[in-house]
Amino acid sequence: MTQEAARTTITAALPYTNGPVHIGHLAGVYVPADIYARYLRAKGQEVLFVCGSDEHGVAITLRAAKEGVSPQQVVDKYHAMIGQSFEGLGISFDIYSRTSKEVHHQTAANFFKHMHAQGLFEEKETEQYYDPEKEQFLADRYIKGTCPVCGYEEAYGDQCENCGSSLSPSELKNPKSAISGAAPVLRKTKHWFLPMQDYEPWLKEWILEGHKDDWKANVYGQCKSWLDNGLQPRAMTRDLDWGVKVPLEGANGKVLYVWFDAPIGYISATKDWAAQQEGRQWEPWWQDNDTRLVHFIGKDNIVFHCIIFPILLKGHGGYILPENVPANEFLNLEGNKISTSRNWAVWLHEYLQELPGKEDVLRYVLTANLPETKDNDFTWKDYQTRNNSELVAILGNFVNRAIVLTHKYFEGKVPAPGIMQPVDEAVLKETAELPARIGQSIEQYRFREALALMMDYARAGNKYLADTEPWQVMKTRPERVQTIMYTALQVVNGLAGICQPFLPFTAQKLRQMLGLPANTWQNAWQDESGQWRALEPGHQLNKATLLFEKIEDKLVEAQVSKLEATKAANQAEAPKVAPAKDEIAFDDFVKMDIRVGTITAAHKVKKSKKLLQLTIETGLDTRTVLSGIAQHYSPEQVVGQQVCLLANLA
Ligand code: 2FM
Ligand code: ZN
Repeated sequence: MTQEAARTTITAALPYTNGPVHIGHLAGVYVPADIYARYLRAKGQEVLFVCGSDEHGVAITLRAAKEGVSPQQVVDKYHAMIGQSFEGLGISFDIYSRTSKEVHHQTAANFFKHMHAQGLFEEKETEQYYDPEKEQFLADRYIKGTCPVCGYEEAYGDQCENCGSSLSPSELKNPKSAISGAAPVLRKTKHWFLPMQDYEPWLKEWILEGHKDDWKANVYGQCKSWLDNGLQPRAMTRDLDWGVKVPLEGANGKVLYVWFDAPIGYISATKDWAAQQEGRQWEPWWQDNDTRLVHFIGKDNIVFHCIIFPILLKGHGGYILPENVPANEFLNLEGNKISTSRNWAVWLHEYLQELPGKEDVLRYVLTANLPETKDNDFTWKDYQTRNNSELVAILGNFVNRAIVLTHKYFEGKVPAPGIMQPVDEAVLKETAELPARIGQSIEQYRFREALALMMDYARAGNKYLADTEPWQVMKTRPERVQTIMYTALQVVNGLAGICQPFLPFTAQKLRQMLGLPANTWQNAWQDESGQWRALEPGHQLNKATLLFEKIEDKLVEAQVSKLEATKAANQAEAPKVAPAKDEIAFDDFVKMDIRVGTITAAHKVKKSKKLLQLTIETGLDTRTVLSGIAQHYSPEQVVGQQVCLLANLA
């Protein structure tokens, strides 16, 4: 991290407003982004944390069709719901804007016009499916047909939801329009393409050479795979009537590609913010070289933020580029992939309603399980265990003992310490050093590690009280107890500061108990001279209040039952699939040496449409395998995936 930068612009992926936000979104993007923003602010740095609703694209129009309402009604409903639930979880955006705003339409249209005027797009005629009944072009998602891989009859033009294959509309058998059911016809249409291949040498230098050491391995690996396989021109316009109108003559009925306008949404959100502040400008946050730009996203957004958006920023000119894009992998739920369409999720708005007062519990459990380097799993059992054995038994218990004992022995006033013993000095030393250690982890985007350091510190506080036994010593040496309680309270104070980025609601409760003014960003960690703020002897504390409550089995069982009901409903609706192969005997099965391996590299095979060459690490050896999946998976989709390998196939 560049310490000297004047300011940091932090963006969190703009959620599609086609449904509510779930725990997968939170763990992938919003919780780590919020920790990062809160941490930098607490250190006294200038931060702008922007987000907003991504209201364009087919995701929205499809949802509108499904609900039988207009796209505008869909985005209005979910924009409000998502914005409120983020606020409920304490996600501290400086602005939560939306791409349907006038400022965004203008910003995105002008961005496109400026690039067009510099000749940065190629105009091309292509053929695209058209619905002759509804008289409109059909986006890939608007075409349905039979999957060429598994035979599922309701596959979409871009993907089969039954077998997961990526498809293109021309591969579907019996294609039909999802709007009218009519057989689509191919029609010529004109679009503006971004010649991404022209930027390859620059991207290779900027990412592959420039960010080898500071971008996360999953992010760097995906970029490398895209660049190794060669970039292709990509259309930046679409035939749709929902989105930002293409600002050119002769472009009636066309809008900007949603992945052109959405990231520009970060810039328009900044303009939206500046317009609401006295004397603030948007430009420094995007155009000053002394600004760090950090994008928080999920792994499915890597190419858009690391390759396409940087090409737009560079092509347009005058903009800074991201310093880092700390994308996370995915969070699963109870062992299964989270899915909006199958309702397999814990929805944030429902969580906040059903479990009020437990905002920080969710933040804690998600942070402890962040899918930072690989996909991870959320289970309600783990949620309960982490609450009961960590938040209640360690953090809550320590704070409660320290405050209650101070009231019991010293009328709630911080006692003056006497002679320090090594055990006291060790704890105070840790208190002084911890902010920097935790800060180092956060600055390297290692949030789980940072949280674990915080909990270890609370554990050390508990151990300190257990070792020094103030309740015993009080009988014979009350002056020694003054030193012990003074020291223990410095740890509570330390926790109040350190937990602020992770557990903001708890931090406020701690400050209240400690008799400190409510948190302003800059007073959490340090005073003006950069020193840890100690609690002074004589300072009056308030009474202890409950930080965390034990979670009973009943509560967790209710949540699990809810998921089981979803599972049952999904099974009832699941398409019946015939067995793919005949049954085999056990003797045949035991002949197979099946291993699970990780794909570490993937390349297209020259002159073959079907084959990908995969490098697979099995843990015992490295295999090179040719696999006939090239029409369904791109190399960058499979790198990092685990696969089964028949290792003794002749
Ligand atoms: O994946 C998504 O949910 C997209 N709406 C993210 C957009 S991020 C940015 F580019 F706006
Ligand atoms: Zn299929």
